[in-house]
Amino acid sequence: MAKIITLAHQKGGVGKSTLAINLALTFQDQLSVALVDTDLQGSLYHLREEFPALTLIGSDQLKEIQQLAYDLVIVDTPPYLSNRLPELFKHSDFILVPTKAGFFDVMAIRSTLALIQEAQVKAGIVLNMVKPRSGLTQDVTELLENMGTPLLQTKVHDRVSIARSSITGGILNGHDPKAKAELMALAEEIVERLAN
Ligand SMILES: Nc1ncnc2c1ncn2[C@@H]1O[C@H](COP(=O)(O)OP(=O)(O)OP(=O)(O)O)[C@@H](O)[C@H]1O
Ligand SMILES: [Mg+2]
Repeated sequence: MAKIITLAHQKGGVGKSTLAINLALTFQDQLSVALVDTDLQGSLYHLREEFPALTLIGSDQLKEIQQLAYDLVIVDTPPYLSNRLPELFKHSDFILVPTKAGFFDVMAIRSTLALIQEAQVKAGIVLNMVKPRSGLTQDVTELLENMGTPLLQTKVHDRVSIARSSITGGILNGHDPKAKAELMALAEEIVERLAN
């Protein structure tokens, strides 16, 4: 059966879809990967033409998602807590929670983390859109470290190349070595945590 990696955070604009696409493209080198958008009105579906090499499926049916015949299924979720999330979380192998480092982003994370803890599933928080030399990040890091879900070592910085990655065919396809390194590190850290 496919391993399922789900991206979730009830706040919008934290990078769920961006990281979902780029992780799918990264893992695709080694595995057969499907990217599932559970938000049927969501942004991913519109990006289908930008990523012809990517298998993009719109579905919010857990049964359907579980039966996909791929090594890895990456599931993107909408910016609200739907009543389908608890079941999806329970049947995921890993939940990635991208968040911005802002105080309100971190406060908004709590209910997503509560659902994750109820589901007793492996998970990790990844700081995304980190600004260089931002003083806030240290406070926020401490806050996040005490929320019961591991904070990943990898941080993804605020980069033009990442913002533009949906029109350049993905980070790996672009020309920003720092962005590529962050994406690879993130993929590796997820694999490590999945295995342990
Ligand atoms: N590391 C980054 N650096 C720069 N821009 C980024 C980064 N990550 C995401 N973005 C940009 O931030 C915006 C929001 O990202 P994205 O759509 O992936 O968030 P989301 O969590 O899926 O939002 P929603 O919940 O509304 O679907 C996009 O314009 C995206 O290009
Ligand atoms: Mg999205």
